[in-house]
Amino acid sequence: MQPIELLRELSDAFGVSGFEDEVREILRARISPFVDSVTVDALGNLVAMRKGKDDRVLMLDAHMDEVGFIVKWVDDKGYVRFAPLGGWDERIVAGHRVVLRTRDGRKRLGVIGSAPPHILTAEERAKPIPMDRMFVDVGATSRQEASDLGVEIGDPFTIHYPFSEIADGYVTGKALDDRAGCAVLVETAQRLADQKLPMTTAFSFAFGEEVGLRGATTAAFHIDPSLALAVEGTIGADMPGIAEESQPTRLGRGPALSVADRSIVVSPKVVRALEKLADGNGIPYQYKLPTYGSTDAGAIHLTRGGVLSGIVSVPCRFIHSPVSTLRLNDFENAIRLVAAFVRSAPNGLL
Ligand code: CO
Repeated sequence: MQPIELLRELSDAFGVSGFEDEVREILRARISPFVDSVTVDALGNLVAMRKGKDDRVLMLDAHMDEVGFIVKWVDDKGYVRFAPLGGWDERIVAGHRVVLRTRDGRKRLGVIGSAPPHILTAEERAKPIPMDRMFVDVGATSRQEASDLGVEIGDPFTIHYPFSEIADGYVTGKALDDRAGCAVLVETAQRLADQKLPMTTAFSFAFGEEVGLRGATTAAFHIDPSLALAVEGTIGADMPGIAEESQPTRLGRGPALSVADRSIVVSPKVVRALEKLADGNGIPYQYKLPTYGSTDAGAIHLTRGGVLSGIVSVPCRFIHSPVSTLRLNDFENAIRLVAAFVRSAPNGLL
């Protein structure tokens, strides 16, 4: 499978936080041929293991979940009220089509409606609509009809735009944060499949990052790694109106090395090791400017007695919106860097 097709399959899969099963099954199928074992823990983390010469474990992490919503009420006219799962910008939520997953696994369509401007006052038009006043129209005229369509309290949904290549080597999809990271891990496993690994390597696909680094917390405890790398699709902000010093990463400049975000100050030893590896392999890289965002590395590095952890990210514009974008050359260079890290682990760090 071409890397772009893997990205497409993963971005289009349904995986709102806590409801990652579709993504998990794709990842299980894609990574199984390249590892020794695959397990799923009680909470839904998928961990694929490859034995290495050294029993100490290098943990590679990417999160499976995407930001979405959950049904919190269906009113007697059949309109659905909802709450966010993960961080959304209220200003961009209204006026989109959504895909909702019912209890029995069916997908239903709906639209996040808003009152047309014609009937609003000037004051109402000037303000974003708070999320607790928004609703999804699923085509029902009563609570019973909504229920007959399969729509119930607790159902997850998300805004879904299909993955597309909008220019040569430039793609858009709904969930590049963090299916880009998931794809980097699968590609890394594939490219190293016929090589002996120095360290035992865990490819860990976490649930629930967007609701508080939850999956990585338990996965890291269980895996008990000596070294870890979180792989993210992170904030690309090279766009009009944003000052350079406020652009966490820029597209086309290679994978981003984190030095500090809100969840971790990365050990300088780890940053230096990644820089050296990138320089030695001719891989372009940039820094993710401190201290925007949080990552699974925040949870992993505080596990047990502490785990030396770093973060490599694929820059993605417009994350936490339904239209994130990335450049395939950044994605490819992230794979090269992560694969080089695994191949030469522990990179003088242990
Ligand atoms: Co993310």
